[in-house]
Amino acid sequence: MDLIPNLVTNLLVLSFSIAVDSPMEANRITILAISILDKFQMASSTLICDTQPWKELEAHAEDVKKTHLRDLLSDDERSRSMVVEFDGIQLDYSRQQATLETREKLFKLAEVASLKEKINRMYNGEHINSTENRSVLHVALRAPRDAVIQNDGNNVVPDVWNVLDKIKEFSERVRSGSWVGATGKELKDVVAVGIGGSFLGPLFVHTALQTDPEAIESARGRQLRFLANVDPIDVARNITGLNPETTLVVIVSKTFTTAETMLNARTLREWISSALGSSAVAKHMVAVSTNLTLVEKFGIDPNNAFAFWDWVGGRYSVCSAVGVLPLSLQYGFSVIEKFLKGASSIDQHMYSEQFERNLPVLLGLLSVWNVSFLGYPARAILPYSQALEKFAPHIQQVSMESNGKGVSIDGVPLPFEAGEIDFGEPGTNGQHSFYQLIHQGRVIPCDFIGVVKSQQPVYLSGEVVSNHDELMSNFFAQPDALAYGKTSEQLQKENVPPHLVPHKTFSGNRPSLSLLLPSLNAYNIGQLLAIYEHRIAVEGFIWGINSFDQWGVELGKSLATQVRKQLNASRTKGEPVQGFNFSTTAMLTRYLQASADVPADLPTRLPQI
Ligand code: F6P
Repeated sequence: MDLIPNLVTNLLVLSFSIAVDSPMEANRITILAISILDKFQMASSTLICDTQPWKELEAHAEDVKKTHLRDLLSDDERSRSMVVEFDGIQLDYSRQQATLETREKLFKLAEVASLKEKINRMYNGEHINSTENRSVLHVALRAPRDAVIQNDGNNVVPDVWNVLDKIKEFSERVRSGSWVGATGKELKDVVAVGIGGSFLGPLFVHTALQTDPEAIESARGRQLRFLANVDPIDVARNITGLNPETTLVVIVSKTFTTAETMLNARTLREWISSALGSSAVAKHMVAVSTNLTLVEKFGIDPNNAFAFWDWVGGRYSVCSAVGVLPLSLQYGFSVIEKFLKGASSIDQHMYSEQFERNLPVLLGLLSVWNVSFLGYPARAILPYSQALEKFAPHIQQVSMESNGKGVSIDGVPLPFEAGEIDFGEPGTNGQHSFYQLIHQGRVIPCDFIGVVKSQQPVYLSGEVVSNHDELMSNFFAQPDALAYGKTSEQLQKENVPPHLVPHKTFSGNRPSLSLLLPSLNAYNIGQLLAIYEHRIAVEGFIWGINSFDQWGVELGKSLATQVRKQLNASRTKGEPVQGFNFSTTAMLTRYLQASADVPADLPTRLPQI
């Protein structure tokens, strides 16, 4: 057992002893010793799949697969114990293919995975994002003013509130008309330029608030748009109908180096300065970033920059200035503060509630159960609220960028699949799209998200139910349709022609869970966001991966750099395509030839629509 550590020690002793006479040799021996130690540590760190609770769950899954949800749901006691409520939100997970024993075994798995310790380490500001040597403190972004959350020995909460206070002050100045554009006109329209985490979370919250009565009132006369894609069509769509004189552009980028965002930022800077002169940029462009040096280099006054910190992951940044600035400009800070409070209520719940009643923990464990033990690789997110139409796209990033990993946090290749494929659409649109596959094709665990009180109730006299009740009829019906299905016996009793019986049979036994929110105001939207953020972290903690880095997005970025250089060299100097494989060379050549009529030195041109 001690062979490797002893070998490493001996190598290091040897390296010290020859360091003066043969420094190069000593250096080589030290590097060798360190790499042996690294490999040893990797090999010796236990993967979660090697633990006893994991193996027990694997065996248990074989038994559970023999049961049917029809039978599981006939046990009212079981169903009752699978309903959990917190702060007005009700979670019912009785339609999961899980028994009470499954739950106990999942708690044992949580114990052996040190889930509670990992949650504590996150809240305590330890550098749990080990590959980037960073802490993971998005919970600090919505902590109350008097909370203490440490990062490297400093309480970060006062820094958070300094920025929040600055946003409040700035957004009030813009909204009240005391901050005006270069020509003295009020800035009524905001374009937020950013991508990934600097876009999806804010878009989700904006879309969810757009129909909330309080938010509507506070946003009257204003508009907020989002420019994300580097496709010039997205620029065209965003600036169409806007007047630079009344537009404020917010550049949102954690790094301020993201190629798409920076080109879009330069494009909108051109849009403003060509209309109003370059000095107008100071009044019409502000930034949100961790990289204030690059913000200044870009030409934005650092006083008009809103900071956040490297301990906030991009996809977890909607509660930082990334989301709070554009959303406060649109809805006013007081509305967005309620959103932060909702997220904070879940942060406290996640931290202090026992696992049996802890919504994100239960949801995370059930997802691990579905993916790793029942073998279902996907999850459908199905909000029965049009206001949540951008929720699934946001969760796609939070989930898949966080947990789409192939190695453990120690770098050991995983012998099991982590992460899941998330997708979704609001009900009932999804029902008329992909539910066919969910009912009779593949088994996809579903999250049904419903709301008790509609943001926009409609009642028509003479109708059987209100419009919201009509929507919610589907929310209640679908989970049972999936769970119970329809047997051939039932169909025969209904006199269905025999040749159609197989086509009309529903196997059932398709798992789902239901989350019922009391309403969809800023506070509840914050709660929903935090539940999913923490659920995804729980999954990563159990799988033993780093849910807070995203190395997988780098390779494509660097290859795009190579292509960009080639396009420039071919267009400006006529250089042939080289350095790529046959396929890329052929298609790039074709692309260049087919667009050869576009001269390389075009004058600046902005969208024409
Ligand atoms: O897609 C990769 C990524 O790094 C995301 O994690 C991030 O949200 C996005 O790019 C945008 O990055 P930035 O905010 O630095 O522009």
